[in-house]
Amino acid sequence: MSKAIRAPGLAGLTRRRLVTSAGAGLLAAVSSKPLAAAAWIEETPSQPIGPFYAPFKPLSIDNDLLFLPGRTEPAEGRVIEVAGRVMDQRSRPLAGARVEIFQANTFGRYNHPNHANSNLKLDPNFQGFGHDLTDAEGRYRFRTIKPGPYPDSPDWIRPPHIHFIVFPARGENWATQMYFVAEELNRKDLLLNQIEPRLHHLVMRPIIGPPVGAPGGKEYVDFDIVLGQPGVERLPT
Ligand SMILES: [Fe+2]
Repeated sequence: MSKAIRAPGLAGLTRRRLVTSAGAGLLAAVSSKPLAAAAWIEETPSQPIGPFYAPFKPLSIDNDLLFLPGRTEPAEGRVIEVAGRVMDQRSRPLAGARVEIFQANTFGRYNHPNHANSNLKLDPNFQGFGHDLTDAEGRYRFRTIKPGPYPDSPDWIRPPHIHFIVFPARGENWATQMYFVAEELNRKDLLLNQIEPRLHHLVMRPIIGPPVGAPGGKEYVDFDIVLGQPGVERLPT
């Protein structure tokens, strides 16, 4: 079920319209990668789902985490749009894949019972979870806020990150975490460092400003997800 996007400039647009009209052109402008390259490409490294997935039914409402249904106040924090394509290792788009995200709010707090022992602040206006379905070009899109860091243990603070789970039309579920470049906490993060350094750029993405002249002044993260697994064509080893 979709809800109306209430952000200035997007009033009255439905969830799908946010994805397919307002953002698609801008995203194309900031993405320099071709849609149908022939070469094999590196798969996106997988990452643990962690303890904060799926506390609620339904799991997610739509792809706009900034507003909750029935509330008029947006979530606190730095608003970003996160968008990209889901592909196989031949750069072919995977249409109809369900893409879920979940994340901490701007204060580093998950709205999840497993995080109830945290003294970090809850944001009653932050959706925390979202989902989208990829279109014919494999594109998905979310509006959310940049998550805050949070302590996982006395000597480990997790850097800002967004959890992704992809449910492709064929094949198995795929989980990863997306990080932000230039975060000092990235350097010592135990989960990020499970990934070879040469592959960090595949899960560590910059926040980029809006293209010159773009309306709305949105900030974007361009994050493509490449599935390499049974059910989609994967690079032979
Ligand atoms: Fe997390």
